[in-house]
Amino acid sequence: MKILVTGGTGYIGSHTVVELQAKGYEVIIVDNLSNSTIEVLDNIAKISGKKPLFEKFDLIDPERTAVFFKLHNDISAVIHFAAFKAVGESVELPLMYYRNNLLSLINILQGMIDNGIRDIVFSSSCTVYGQPETLPAREDTPIQKAASPYGNTKQISEEIITDTSINADIHAILLRYFNPIGAHESAVIGELPLGVPNCLMPYITQTAIGKRPFLRVWGNDYDTPDGTAIRDYIHVVDLAKAHVIAVERLTGDKGKKQVEIFNLGTGNGFSVMEVINSFEKTSGVKLNYEIKERRPGDIVKVWADTEYANAELGWKSEKTLDEMTSSAWKWEQSLAKKR
Ligand code: UD1
Repeated sequence: MKILVTGGTGYIGSHTVVELQAKGYEVIIVDNLSNSTIEVLDNIAKISGKKPLFEKFDLIDPERTAVFFKLHNDISAVIHFAAFKAVGESVELPLMYYRNNLLSLINILQGMIDNGIRDIVFSSSCTVYGQPETLPAREDTPIQKAASPYGNTKQISEEIITDTSINADIHAILLRYFNPIGAHESAVIGELPLGVPNCLMPYITQTAIGKRPFLRVWGNDYDTPDGTAIRDYIHVVDLAKAHVIAVERLTGDKGKKQVEIFNLGTGNGFSVMEVINSFEKTSGVKLNYEIKERRPGDIVKVWADTEYANAELGWKSEKTLDEMTSSAWKWEQSLAKKR
């Protein structure tokens, strides 16, 4: 089976391509390389022994996307990762976010409908829950008004897919990721943030390697055991594996509804300090950090109820926080060697 992976040279995309190839799927990647590099294709091949097919273009171009789908109407399913994802940037450049994230999805769905391609797995986010009133967050926990245009594109995308499925023969699985971190055990692929990272894990490893002078811990006066904010960090390889299961469920007609939603997390919340402690333990590096004011827009705590994904998908995250932080460190060190 041939699977289209949009954004397949990106962080979660590249790990998913490797897992798909390991299960014998043929992969075709579409990526505009706006936040990734062409070398990722060779790095995927180093792990899997097979270079995926690749086309570079922008999925916001309706004509180009239509031509692509017509040419590749033998695609069995689509996994759609390609999107902008920086919360702060989306506040500054909302139109860029709405244009990119929504038009590309619309063009993909149109291409699927026009060519009889039925199945799509969509990258959604726990951001749709905002700060839930009750924890853990379940798939039926009410979603809250998005705190950023980025978050809003995820909410609207979920609605676009759901609305489209009503009148078109589209079957979808919406995967709500919690906080993906870590890297492939080979340290050949991993997260490649452009410029200064916003996210915690790459900021930690870049500080430890000497690229940044110190980590700023955004707030230690939250209502949590150690005062720092809590998230559900999940190893990117565990996350990638869930995508293969989602594709198998769609193409095997095993879904219970036309559109299904699953949380992808570990079910455990860890504080910023717990992540730092794990990193220091697994790397043996003492991290330079300073406590700062809370970051605007941050929620206090969130973690996933994973029961539904565990029961229905037969999937469970396997890797520990220590495995996440140690693999992220191995990846940062391999990047440093290349530099
Ligand atoms: C946010 C988004 C999420 C998105 C993700 C990746 C929300 C609610 N969440 O996650 O949807 O997928 O970004 O773009 O919009 N921290 C520090 N110092 C740092 C960096 C982070 O202390 O230098 C802290 C943060 O305050 C937070 C935790 O680490 O408590 C995790 O932050 P981050 O990795 O940026 O992810 P989220 O903000 O949870």
